[in-house]
Order: sequence, then structure tokens, then C-alpha cells
Amino acid sequence: MRKIYISPSFLSADFNNLAKDIELINNSQADWFHLDVMDGVFVPNISFGFPIISHINKLANKELDVHLMIVEPDRYIETFKKSGADILTVHYEACTHLHRTVQKIKDTGMKAGVSLNPHTPVSLLEDIIEELDLVLIMSVNPGYGGQTFIENSYKKIKKLREMIDNTNSKALIEVDGGVNLKNYKKLYDAGADALVAGSSVFNSENPTETIALLKKV
Ligand code: DX5
Ligand code: ZN
Repeated sequence: MRKIYISPSFLSADFNNLAKDIELINNSQADWFHLDVMDGVFVPNISFGFPIISHINKLANKELDVHLMIVEPDRYIETFKKSGADILTVHYEACTHLHRTVQKIKDTGMKAGVSLNPHTPVSLLEDIIEELDLVLIMSVNPGYGGQTFIENSYKKIKKLREMIDNTNSKALIEVDGGVNLKNYKKLYDAGADALVAGSSVFNSENPTETIALLKKV
């Protein structure tokens, strides 16, 4: 049976009561904690860093799926590992020597992901796809939660699915941005394995129930 992963984005969590939202995700059918790190340079916003991730790690009982929207991610790979990251995703657009960066992430024992901005074609991953544990397709421009899903993303997911299925790659396809109960099925149909959901989970009446619904293929 096909395994589906749900990764609620803590960008939309209640920062006045993080422990409560961590507990909520611990007791839900979610698979990972999606943690968005922004540096105000690669993206026009600043979110949170190591102290918050370490604190979340103390209470979380699921893997930490850390999405780096920062320049020069190589400088911090070890520190993210120490903070508790299990999956570390860097942006294609932020890495000059992507192969080296991916190798460094894997050397620490973390899973390595590469994220593509909406304008970056999936074909650029052809020569590294077999090295990757995950590809994160951005379906909004990175920087903020609560944005509208970009429709062209379906095409990219399908192309990437084909690329992965035609190689020895074991990479999972994760989709991030504007994912909700209206479009999640179409995303699975296009070939997605994992969905990030921020506002559609944390701003819903019943986040636990929303996560359960998102897991239904
Ligand atoms: C955006 C972040 C996303 C964001 C998704 O730059 O990478 O993870 O939190 O939020 P929603 O699901 O609200 O679009
Ligand atoms: Zn993200």
C-alpha cells in the first residue's frame, strides 16, 4: 500500500503555546513536524532558528522535517543535526555546490532533501536525483504561510514522479504551500508522497480531524 506522509507546518502554530500544538501533532496521524527556517536574505521573512527547533525536539515524538530557506546552508548543517533535525532540506537556488551539500547532510545521518522554487524546473535535478531522500516542490513562493497554491505545480509533480520512477531514485516527493482539503487528492494523483500543511491544519476548527482527512488517499 502506498505510504502517505503529512507534515504540519509550525509556521502557523500558536507560538504563545507551542507545547499545546506539539502535543496536538504528537497525538494526531501526522508523520513529521515541518519546521520552516527563514533568514531574511533568501526569503523576505525571518522565522526561527536553533533554540526553537531544540525545544520542539524535546517534546516532539515524530521526525523533524526541517526546511531551510537560507543562503549558505552548509555553514549550519552540523548545528541543525544537533538541534534534532531528521530530514534537512536545502533550496536548489541557494546551493552552488549542491552535490557537496547533499553529501554533507547525509554524512551526519540526516535524510537529505532539495527544494525547488516555483520557477525552477524539475529537470535540473536529473543528475542528482538518485542521491536524494526527498524533493520538496514549492507550490507557493517561499516566505509566508497562507498563500494561494500555484496551479503549475501539478505539472512539476508529474514530471518529477516520472523522473524518479525511471531511475533508481528512492526520493519522496513533498509538496509545500497552499495545500488544503480541496487540492490534496489531486496532489496524490499527480504523484506526491508527502504534503506540508500549515494554515489549512492549524487554522481549521479541528486540526486533528483535518490531518486525518489529509491522510486519506
Ligand atoms: C512557506 C513555507 C511553508 C508554509 C506553508 O515558505 O515553506 O511551509 O508554512 O504554509 P501553508 O500551508 O499555509 O501554505
Ligand atoms: Zn516549508
